[in-house]
Amino acid sequence: MKPKHLTTLLLWEPRHIREVLDLARKVKKDRDKYRKALKGQSLAMIFEKPSTRTRVSFTVAMWELGGQPIYLSTLDMQLGRGETIGDTAKVLSRYVHGIMARTFKQSTIDDLAQFAAVPVINGLSDLYHPCQVLADLQTVQERFGKNVEGLHLAYIGDGNNMAHSLMIIGAKLGMKVTCIGPKGFLPNPGVVKEVQRVAKQHKAVIEVTSDLEQVKGANVVVTDTWMSMGQSDPGGTKMKTFKPYQVTQEVMRRADKDAIFLHCLPCHRGEEVTGEVIDGPQSAVFDEAENRLHAQKAVMIYLMG
Ligand code: CP
Ligand code: NVA
Repeated sequence: MKPKHLTTLLLWEPRHIREVLDLARKVKKDRDKYRKALKGQSLAMIFEKPSTRTRVSFTVAMWELGGQPIYLSTLDMQLGRGETIGDTAKVLSRYVHGIMARTFKQSTIDDLAQFAAVPVINGLSDLYHPCQVLADLQTVQERFGKNVEGLHLAYIGDGNNMAHSLMIIGAKLGMKVTCIGPKGFLPNPGVVKEVQRVAKQHKAVIEVTSDLEQVKGANVVVTDTWMSMGQSDPGGTKMKTFKPYQVTQEVMRRADKDAIFLHCLPCHRGEEVTGEVIDGPQSAVFDEAENRLHAQKAVMIYLMG
């Protein structure tokens, strides 16, 4: 059965992910064909955190599919004054055809999905970023072909929402995902345990390590900011701990010679990645950013169409 929401890709079967990636490819190829796919539909977009890509790509996606996006900052909503998530979800469901939300807690997204009568899409939480990794996999498929089984993706950096979602999508699609970072900042052990269970079912390999040498032979090298939204680093301890894990040309040389570099953006040149790498020939970050538009159109057509 098709999923009702996209709260986390953990709840999607591999075939759902493949269907959405196939649709994303079609939607990108023929941008005009889907002009009426969501005609007359509205999407409420709830933001507890700032955004450039997610806000603009969902907005444009709705316009291009014939629908209407509604931007809602929680600062301006009754949610910010104590209205419950349940009541908000029920009320919005009487007006709109879908809800996208960017939140701190994953439980906010899960609660929205529990109470909404319409599809709920996770536009990033502290735990997951599923729309981003669908765009990432679309980019990987463009460079390496549709079959990503056995490809090696190395994520170097903070064990954050991106690390979790990359491990999940990699596990579902039969990839090898190596998550590399300093001790104390590795991915959530509960998520890792669940992902490793999923990986076994799909002949995927998920590794978590502090050994940067494990980037060896990777086809895709990914990093993300060391400081996610809502985090602070008084005294700069975290930044110092992460310095040896910066993605440099030297790190890229240890990966496969045809490796690509991905970053969900926004990036901090000179911190998690050098300018040389992110602005260099192996970088696919702007294709990746563009693919947010196509992948999210596919998600919305899949869930709301
Ligand atoms: N990658 C991403 O989600 O970017 P924004 O924070 O700009 O939406
Ligand atoms: N890990 C980052 C991703 C930003 C798109 C954050 O949560 O801030």
